Amino acid sequence: MSNFIVSARKYRPQRFQDVVGQQHVAGTLKNALATDHVAHAFLFTGPRGVGKTTCARILAKILNCENRTKDYEACDTCASCKSFNENASFNIIELDAASNNSVEHIRALTEQVRFQPQQGRYKVFIIDEVHMLSNQAFNAFLKTLEEPPPYAIFILATTEKHKIIPTILSRCQIFDFRRITVADMALHLKGICEKEGIEAEEDALHIIGQRRTAPCAMPCLFSTALPVFRVKKSGTAM
Ligand SMILES: Nc1ncnc2c1ncn2[C@@H]1O[C@H](COP(=O)(O)OP(=O)(O)O)[C@@H](O)[C@H]1O
Ligand SMILES: [Mg+2]
Ligand SMILES: [Zn+2]
Repeated sequence: MSNFIVSARKYRPQRFQDVVGQQHVAGTLKNALATDHVAHAFLFTGPRGVGKTTCARILAKILNCENRTKDYEACDTCASCKSFNENASFNIIELDAASNNSVEHIRALTEQVRFQPQQGRYKVFIIDEVHMLSNQAFNAFLKTLEEPPPYAIFILATTEKHKIIPTILSRCQIFDFRRITVADMALHLKGICEKEGIEAEEDALHIIGQRRTAPCAMPCLFSTALPVFRVKKSGTAM
C-alpha cells in the first residue's frame, strides 16, 4: 500500500500553537483549561478550511491528556494521547452531520452520552457541519444539550451559524474563526515548502495565498499549490 498522505492531513496541526491565525480561540480555550472552567458545549463557526475541526480535535485531546504541558497543550505521549493518535480512543466520538443528519444518527450519539468514560475525565462529542441536522435531530439533541452529565463535552462546528436554532446557540460558548490572512497563508506555505524540500519564490507564495483565502482556505492551498511546486522540482507530475 502507498505511504502517500494527502498534504492537508499530513499538515493538520496537532497543537494549538501550530494553528495559524486563530490565536484568539486558542488563548481563550487555554485560559479555560488553566482555570478549569471549561464549558460543556462549544460552537466553532467560520469559513471552510480555517481550522474548526482541527481545533475541536486538539481540544478533545488536551481535555483527556494525563500530563498536559505547562502551556496547556497535549503531551502526545500518555496513554490517552496515544490512543487518540491511533484513532482508538473511546472518549472522542465524532459525527459528520453532513452525511449523518437523521434523528437515528443523533440518537446513536446521545445513547453514548449516558455511559461514563472508562478512562480519563471527559467524553467529547464532535458534531461537524451541525447545521445539516434535520429538525427532528436538532430537537432530539437539544434534550441532551440541556442536561449533559458532567463528563460530557460537545463541540459543534458549522460554516452556517445563522442556521442553528437559538435554543442551541444559547447553550454554547461560541468561537468565531477568522479567515486566514494572505501573509499568514504565505508564511505557512513557506514552512511546508521547506519541510518538503521545495524551492518557492516569496511572490509566488503570496499570489497563491491571495487566491486561496476563499472558499476553503488551507486545504485548497495544499491541493493546488503543492503539486505545482512538486512538478517544478522534479519535472514529473505527482
Ligand atoms: N488555521 C489553520 N492552521 C493550519 N492549518 C490549517 C488551518 N486551518 C486548516 N488547516 C489545514 O486544513 C485542513 C482542514 O482544516 P479543518 O480544520 O478541517 O477546517 P474546517 O473544519 O474549518 O473546515 C487541516 O487538515 C489543516 O491541514
Ligand atoms: Mg470541518
Ligand atoms: Zn497526553
